[in-house]
Amino acid sequence: MDIALHVNIDHVATLRQARGTNYPDPVEAALVAERAGAHGITAHLREDRRHVNDRDIRVLREVVRGTFNLEMAATEEMLAIALATKPDRVTLVPERREERTTEGGLDVVTHEAHLARIVGALSERGIRVSLFIAPSPAQIDASLAVGAVQVELHTGEYAHARPHERSAFAQSLADGARHAAHKGLRVAAGHGLTLENVGPIAAIPECVELNIGHAIVSDAVISGFDRAVRAMLEAMRRARGAR
Ligand code: PXP
Repeated sequence: MDIALHVNIDHVATLRQARGTNYPDPVEAALVAERAGAHGITAHLREDRRHVNDRDIRVLREVVRGTFNLEMAATEEMLAIALATKPDRVTLVPERREERTTEGGLDVVTHEAHLARIVGALSERGIRVSLFIAPSPAQIDASLAVGAVQVELHTGEYAHARPHERSAFAQSLADGARHAAHKGLRVAAGHGLTLENVGPIAAIPECVELNIGHAIVSDAVISGFDRAVRAMLEAMRRARGAR
């Protein structure tokens, strides 16, 4: 089966927020990503609005042609925004330390009743729900129990591991993917993936989607730098020539 790429545009917004300007626009980045072949766009509306804001979410909903995946915490405020925006999918992620497992994913086992209510409210409105979890059988089984149709396996530990420790983390992600798919869940993965470490995760047969942001934004900054400097020099020289 083919594997989809969902591009997370959060850090385009981080760059915008660093100056309080209206550029670079994460919406524009989303359009470029889709033209380049991305199958979907992911944006995380954080409670503190540190990068993506409410306007971005509304406009992304209008312009994204593939899957629009809204990442958010399982709070009442975010639930109301999701129900009003109607993204194709909501991925519930932890924002506070007490909502996380030691691996950094959502602790579905501990918060089962609360998550069942939020997932139920979203599903009733036709929004598919994914849970960002560690690849542990207990978290996967709890995700199914609360009504999620998808799990996104947290690849952060794998990505941040030293090279000689990586294969053990890759194996546990592969085992988790198999377990989740066997239970009937759609399987995605993400966090910390780069050109250098994506291979073993993209090769997991049960994994049908990757969510990647920071590395793509970073590569875009560096690979676009030459062109940006040349464009600025040309604008400066044109001004001198016109004097
Ligand atoms: N998946 C989820 C659930 C995320 O919260 C994030 C952003 O932290 C990503 C994927 C993308 O991670 P990265 O920006 O490291 O590629």
